[in-house]
Amino acid sequence: MDPVLTSHIREPNGHTLEAYLRRGGYSGLRKALSLPPGEVIEMVKASGLRGRGGAGFPTGMKWQFVPKDSPKPKYLCCNADESEPGTFKDHVLMERNPHLLLEGCAIGCHAIGAKVAYIYIRGEFYHVQRVLEAAIEEARAAGFLGRDILGSGFDCEIYVHRGAGAYEAGEESALLESLEGKRAQPRIRPPFPAVVGLYGCPTAINNVETLCNVPLILTHGPEWFASLGPEKNGGPKLYCISGHVEKPGVYEASMHVTLRELIYGYAGGIRGGRALKAVITGGSSTPVILPGQIDAQASFDGLLKAGSMLGSAAIIVMDDTTCMVWLAENLLHFYRHESCGKCTPCREGTDWLLKILHRIEAGDGSMRDIDLLLSVSRNIGGKTLCPFGDAAIAPVVSTIQHFRHEYEAHVREGRCTCPAEWREMGNRGPGARA
Ligand SMILES: Cc1cc2nc3c(=O)[nH]c(=O)nc-3n(C[C@H](O)[C@H](O)[C@H](O)COP(=O)(O)O)c2cc1C
Repeated sequence: MDPVLTSHIREPNGHTLEAYLRRGGYSGLRKALSLPPGEVIEMVKASGLRGRGGAGFPTGMKWQFVPKDSPKPKYLCCNADESEPGTFKDHVLMERNPHLLLEGCAIGCHAIGAKVAYIYIRGEFYHVQRVLEAAIEEARAAGFLGRDILGSGFDCEIYVHRGAGAYEAGEESALLESLEGKRAQPRIRPPFPAVVGLYGCPTAINNVETLCNVPLILTHGPEWFASLGPEKNGGPKLYCISGHVEKPGVYEASMHVTLRELIYGYAGGIRGGRALKAVITGGSSTPVILPGQIDAQASFDGLLKAGSMLGSAAIIVMDDTTCMVWLAENLLHFYRHESCGKCTPCREGTDWLLKILHRIEAGDGSMRDIDLLLSVSRNIGGKTLCPFGDAAIAPVVSTIQHFRHEYEAHVREGRCTCPAEWREMGNRGPGARA
């Protein structure tokens, strides 16, 4: 598939309004404003666009849940927190093609009846914030944002709000809390944000890449969009490939692509020609899968069948030098640190998991500890207000499922059993004992 979202990503000054208009930019908005909001939603539904933020929820359906008859203002929030480990696609879109996102936000606002969109951007993306704000100014001056856009009577403003660097702030209800000036902690649902969202008003929350696909649907039609991928997995997809590959990076492909093609084709194969050991398919919150499963289609449905998830399409590749106990310990270090602390199972449980993993990796664990990890995980999964808890246990449960023998070897030998030369390759955690 020829790139669509990233086709002009390397063009000098390709982020400017002039370049965007040369590429046919804002024609999707023009088309949307010529249609009633309900028809725009129908087009997005017909395209089959599924959210690119993690869960793959159908975007058109999400927009339809926003009540049309509510007397309250409605809001669109763009989730630009991009905090899932291994994910680095959204900032590329925002930095190199900011008007595509602004156009997507404006179309989204028209569809749900909002006049204001907020782009909640990860705290570290200071430069990207500046790019977006400059683009907003350009778009306002040219009449694509502000009052009476393109003479249609539709008003729309977009504001960029920078977060303060918490992973949990990417969770949609915690994002709303943060946007309201409070601690980024999740809300109890129901009510869902579509009905009671920002400032208690109906709100749609969409990922950056999701919204960037919307102008394409309006411009080229829902059938064209759906035809780019397998059934129910349409449109172009950005994959973030990192870890032990020759050419890590952001790659755009149709969701017909397999993990094998992504790893060995796009990303140039495993570094130094080594053997593949395991793959994380959709960011650190998704289960690890084995080399025998890499012929799976890298789509929402394909990866579910393979026992994992597409998630944020962050593919983390590990070669045969990777200690899987260390991997789980390393990721739990992140989850323990980032747990917002609101739900006891997550706050306490991630700390327990980290302590036990550290014990095993350092050579002080017992066989009972392996089952204790599973027991603690069972007491976290499904017992928290947001999916953070399920995310945190995924690396633990899946590494024990596929690599229990490695955990047992650590216990039996009282040390990390990876050969010494692998340590030189940086695959061992802090505190590991030779
Ligand atoms: C802990 C946690 C962190 C998340 N971080 C992000 C994020 O950085 N960006 C994102 O788009 N979605 C993130 N999500 C998913 C959002 O809650 C939400 O599902 C998404 O923004 C919806 O957009 P979509 O329908 O376009 O996918 C996160 C979820 C959880 C549980």
